Amino acid sequence: MRFFSGQFFFLAAFLFLCLSVQAQPTAFSWQPVAPGVWKAVVGKADGPTPLSVAAIQPRLDGLTKLGAAPFPAWLTGSVHSQADNKTFLRFPLQRGEQLFGLGLNFKAVQQRGTIKTLHVDHYGGRDNGRTHAPVPFYVSSLGYGVLINSARYLTVYAGTAVRAEGPESPPEMNRNADRNWQAQPYSDAVDVVVPAAGTEVYVFAGRTPMEVMQRYNLYCGGGTLPPKWGLGFTHRMPTLFTDEQILNEVADFETKGYPLSFVGLEPGWQSHSYPNSFVWDSTRFPQPARFLAQLASKNIRANLWINPYVSSHSPLFNAILPYTGSHTVWVGRVPDFNMAPARRLYKELFIKQHLSMGVSGYKVDEVDGYDQWLWPDVATFPSGVSAEQMRQVYGLQFQKLTADWFRERNQRTYGLVRGSNAGASALPYVLYNDYYDHRDFITALCSSSFAGVLWTPEARSSKTSEEWLRRMQTVCFSPMAMLNAWADGTKPWTFPDVADDVKAVMNLRMQLLPYLYTTFAQYQFEGKPPIRAMNLVDGFSFDERATAGTLNSTDNPYALAVRKDCKDQFMVGDFLLVAPLFAGETSRKVILPAGRWYDFYTGKLAGEGEVIDITPGLANIPVFVKDGGLIPMIPPTLHSPNATEKLPLTVRHYGKAAVVWTLYDDDGVTFDYEQGKHTWTQLSVSQNQNASLTGSWTPPTDPTFHYTGISWVFMTP
Ligand code: GAL
Repeated sequence: MRFFSGQFFFLAAFLFLCLSVQAQPTAFSWQPVAPGVWKAVVGKADGPTPLSVAAIQPRLDGLTKLGAAPFPAWLTGSVHSQADNKTFLRFPLQRGEQLFGLGLNFKAVQQRGTIKTLHVDHYGGRDNGRTHAPVPFYVSSLGYGVLINSARYLTVYAGTAVRAEGPESPPEMNRNADRNWQAQPYSDAVDVVVPAAGTEVYVFAGRTPMEVMQRYNLYCGGGTLPPKWGLGFTHRMPTLFTDEQILNEVADFETKGYPLSFVGLEPGWQSHSYPNSFVWDSTRFPQPARFLAQLASKNIRANLWINPYVSSHSPLFNAILPYTGSHTVWVGRVPDFNMAPARRLYKELFIKQHLSMGVSGYKVDEVDGYDQWLWPDVATFPSGVSAEQMRQVYGLQFQKLTADWFRERNQRTYGLVRGSNAGASALPYVLYNDYYDHRDFITALCSSSFAGVLWTPEARSSKTSEEWLRRMQTVCFSPMAMLNAWADGTKPWTFPDVADDVKAVMNLRMQLLPYLYTTFAQYQFEGKPPIRAMNLVDGFSFDERATAGTLNSTDNPYALAVRKDCKDQFMVGDFLLVAPLFAGETSRKVILPAGRWYDFYTGKLAGEGEVIDITPGLANIPVFVKDGGLIPMIPPTLHSPNATEKLPLTVRHYGKAAVVWTLYDDDGVTFDYEQGKHTWTQLSVSQNQNASLTGSWTPPTDPTFHYTGISWVFMTP
């Protein structure tokens, strides 16, 4: 007995030693997985992850083109440890370093000094981590990114935790006597709690934040390339509209001369919703295939609203029951898409009822929150995947599922979704919500570019014509130009006094399609986000060391402005800087990065590396073009050009600089571009001896190129 207790003592001591050794912070073991990308596995594997659910297929061609890069030296001191069934991660921070990302945020782009618990949810008004895409990824202004590939509710202390004995631990101060005393003393690290016994971590290198985003998006498969119709204008119909009412509304767009490329059908297209039957309501849509064909004959596509929760009136109800969870959402059963039969049943019904009839895409609603609507964390699912992990990846999973159905038909889709996560770049979906704060919607456009997702600041209704116009102007400079009239029945021409201005900006959206399409091709092939926060512009990120001692509004107003969070202006592609105004505003400040910038409408010089004040009037949304910017445009068109249409191209050049830029084109609807059926056409502007400019190009003979001739317009006199 005594012997036994002695043995027991040694065993206990050994176990204790093991545990305490494990609790010691340990360096990561980084393994290269692609040029400039590393992965470390910590502890035990933990079920589905965002990247496994999205089934990412890294674009190695794009990553190879970006080239090899050394492991970011800033991260060599990173450590992990485990205790209490949790995994703790720590990544060092430097003084002056800024952080971006941590999901789709609505209040701020910069994230250093924030604390978040990343949790898929409907945005509730605070950047606390509960959002539609709480992507566990951040980008540093020093040029690296960190992704925690976990489907858990992660808590991230992004530079707030202050260790007692860290290399940069701040000195204690006496608040009574020291005016420099700070409520938030200096923190030298990002700390992450993963509530699981293990996780995967990825590091992305880059000389600039843009290069980091490129590597992240390319690693996730390259950004989505929408069909051409997806980049036109879309109008979501009042929820109980019939087929006839929809066709009449479409005809109104046509006769009044407002562009339209696809329409959205809200819950009323179904016989029961919500929960959902997923089949057409036979009174409102007696002949759905005929109705869809009528739309198609007018070059208009159709998108169907759904949420995934099944009604007892659905034809798949009985068959799906064994593959649903313990709890309901609006009393609908919650399918467990980790189970192959659940995926198969949805696929069969959706293909029969929708895709094969001519439906072009989905709006996947309510896969985000709120908590009181979705399943609780005590719910169980037949696959054994926890309710927490289900919540974190449900929207992502549905995106992948539906995207695959369209891909199998060699048909591109472009839809809407309210829940997403890491690994979503290549998935053809745009996020939206019910929050409807115009200013915060624009901040979300900026922050989306650091999350590998797309976001639309949809317009629904407005109190005044001024607000209506301002909202319609911003949707036309976003990934999806959408009027969501599901509840209000608004139309672009609802406010007669601004109806012409609304039409003008919708037309401008259509004219810009060649530029937008190339911008999305850059997302697909090069990983560059189509909408870009200003901090993704080279040289824009604030570097405290470079401006040390000069940060005041008299000596260095530009550096001061750049240091502040820049969240109300953004880039569309390489050349366009958009600075929206909001209702009630007649003037605003615009930060123009280094180099010269020109007014989009007049071609006149607007400024260079400075903060300007503008009073632009109501009719136009302020847009500026970088020196040497090329903007390829088509004539205003009522629908996105179809696969055989050939149009004349006008290329505007701004400023004085010579430039070489490539214009992308393909058939606009299939995935044949992946087999090389696409064209990159070089457009060049060179300076002649007398400083005048000449444009040149060689039109490709490739049938996937849809432009006839080109005319050059030199906008800057
Ligand atoms: C909301 C959604 C709206 C609209 C509505 C229909 O959840 O955000 O855009 O689709 O459902 O019931």
